[in-house]
Amino acid sequence: MMKDQAEHLRLKMQGIKKTKALAVLSGKGGVGKSHFSINFALSLHKLGYKVLLFDMDVGMGNVEILMGISTQYTIADVLHGNVSVQEAVSKSSYGIDILSGGTGLNTLVEMDEGDITHLLAQFDVSFVQYDYVIFDMGAGMSKSVLSFLKAADEIVVLITPEPTSLMDGYASVKFMMMESLEGPYNVVINKTSSSREGEIVFGRINKVTEKFLNGQLSYLGRIPTDSAVTKAAMKQVPFSILYPNGKATKAVEELAASFVNPSSTKFLKDGFLARLKHQFLEKRERL
Ligand SMILES: Nc1ncnc2c1ncn2[C@@H]1O[C@H](COP(=O)(O)OP(=O)(O)O)[C@@H](O)[C@H]1O
Ligand SMILES: [Mg+2]
Repeated sequence: MMKDQAEHLRLKMQGIKKTKALAVLSGKGGVGKSHFSINFALSLHKLGYKVLLFDMDVGMGNVEILMGISTQYTIADVLHGNVSVQEAVSKSSYGIDILSGGTGLNTLVEMDEGDITHLLAQFDVSFVQYDYVIFDMGAGMSKSVLSFLKAADEIVVLITPEPTSLMDGYASVKFMMMESLEGPYNVVINKTSSSREGEIVFGRINKVTEKFLNGQLSYLGRIPTDSAVTKAAMKQVPFSILYPNGKATKAVEELAASFVNPSSTKFLKDGFLARLKHQFLEKRERL
């Protein structure tokens, strides 16, 4: 029933307008999902798209804190029946709209089927006006998370080069693939020290996914470790706003451009030209 609803929603959204719902997740917390979601959303906005950022990491309220905003309503209000999803949406001064997970609510992992059905049912009317809806999903995987993911058009799995992060990321990919979630599965490697490191880490998770799950992952790209990220967090301003020329900003903007138009940057990702380009970029980075 929930599956039907999610699929129905996806088809409906595709039919009415090409709203793309993008779910950002990871195996464990602390890999940079909230920072990525916020700044990826802002990059899409900068490219001219209308974007809603949906903080599904309920119980944390991370997006609000990191953006230095305070929303009037949260998902808790929607679940309690106080307001509709549409009414709960807030405009931010950065040009993207926000739906806050808020604090003091159970985690998504703990939401019951009724809550989820209720939310999913409201999505179609609320989302059609957007080009992209980005879900900051929080960490961990469960049946309830999965029912949300089924409503998404694309999955982004964030991992870092730490072996434990790779394991956790692979575990969530495995869970989703075992549950026949179609994807596409995009992988972003965060907190990297070089583009080569990003490629190597992607290569590892890709290899085990192909070997043991017979599945397909696609490399969206990597984000360097950048002290600007923590500095911006301290100031409660998104790093791409505070440091428009920072290296993390440039990387996220490149990922957004590549996500929107995969063919235009495909040469960056594979083949001979890609390696040349990577070497070139890496050299430039070291300068
Ligand atoms: N590219 C990066 N460079 C440096 N620090 C980062 C980067 N991405 C995330 N961080 C830091 O990692 C921590 C976790 O980030 P956050 O976005 O809250 O993760 P999550 O939402 O996955 O739990 C924060 O302290 C953040 O400042
Ligand atoms: Mg978070």
